[in-house]
Amino acid sequence: MKKQEIIICRNFKEEFAQALKSHHYDKLFILTDEHTHIQCLPLLENMDMECIKNAVRINVGPEDIHKNLETLAYVWSQLSEKGGTRRSLLVNLGGGMITDLGGFAAATFKRGISCINVPTTLLSMVDAAVGGKTGINFNDLKNEIGSFYPADQVLINGEFLKTLDQRNLLSGYAEMLKHGLISNVSHWAELLAFDLNHINYDELQELAGKSVEVKETIVEKDPTEQSIRKALNFGHTIGHAFESFSLHGNHPILHGYAVAWGMVCELYLSHLHAGFPKDKLHQTVRFIKDNYGRLDFTCDDYETLYNYMKHDKKNSASGIINFTLLGDVGDIRINQTASQEEIYELLDFYSETMG
Ligand code: GLY
Repeated sequence: MKKQEIIICRNFKEEFAQALKSHHYDKLFILTDEHTHIQCLPLLENMDMECIKNAVRINVGPEDIHKNLETLAYVWSQLSEKGGTRRSLLVNLGGGMITDLGGFAAATFKRGISCINVPTTLLSMVDAAVGGKTGINFNDLKNEIGSFYPADQVLINGEFLKTLDQRNLLSGYAEMLKHGLISNVSHWAELLAFDLNHINYDELQELAGKSVEVKETIVEKDPTEQSIRKALNFGHTIGHAFESFSLHGNHPILHGYAVAWGMVCELYLSHLHAGFPKDKLHQTVRFIKDNYGRLDFTCDDYETLYNYMKHDKKNSASGIINFTLLGDVGDIRINQTASQEEIYELLDFYSETMG
């Protein structure tokens, strides 16, 4: 798989111009959704560059609901009808929905064209836009169709974070916290010390840069998730169950909130199975409780939650639930499992500590 260049921007205009120059393209396309079209595209247009003025804009509906075959077909048809060739370049300007969908459009149009990711949410900067996973939802299943197709460059520009509301910032921050837990104590500690109520955006961009490095190092070792990339699934087995549970109860929650709450349970399982230290467990749980609040469920919901976990696509054999656990901060144990009894115990722990 080709290597991806991650650029932590100091001067976005220069770095973006440089990234464009490194490609020998015949036509430039810029993909946005209805939000980034209004809030972020002007930043590119104000750069007063001829190639941006001449670029073909493709604008699609926002959010996960539009990450589907119909939107993908629209992007393909725009690329095709507006003169796209094998040597065209696609800029994906948006959150995870845009970098996933645009990345997959780039992977498949004319058997693959070059693309640059310009993530505009914290979640996409530290996760979705980095590491080459692209795809769409299909048949009600998330990311069912896709490929590994890294963008040539990913530009991390902290300026975009100022357009985000607190909930979306927190959602991205949960993935950063995950990167802290799977990397080292000093990064984990600085993440817990960061004041999410009075955000210093320069510091946040600095932390996001470190966070991307954690992901990059792991993806370089295992780009197609055969082994250590599973570390990036920490918090996600139970997190996805919380996400499905909330969605089906008509109270959808942001992905990062589900991951934060999933990490509370999976840290406790890490303590039970792998000896994760109690003090670090409680420090992390307190941070999550203080900043994310809690998800409401009762013991009557345990069976439903357990069934969602059983159907998670990270499980290879049916009925065996796969977890990534931690023996300590940075001590990763992949391919772990837990019994139904233990999972109910984790949910008890969650209810008692987060209540
Ligand atoms: N979001 C997890 C990964 O990229 O592997």
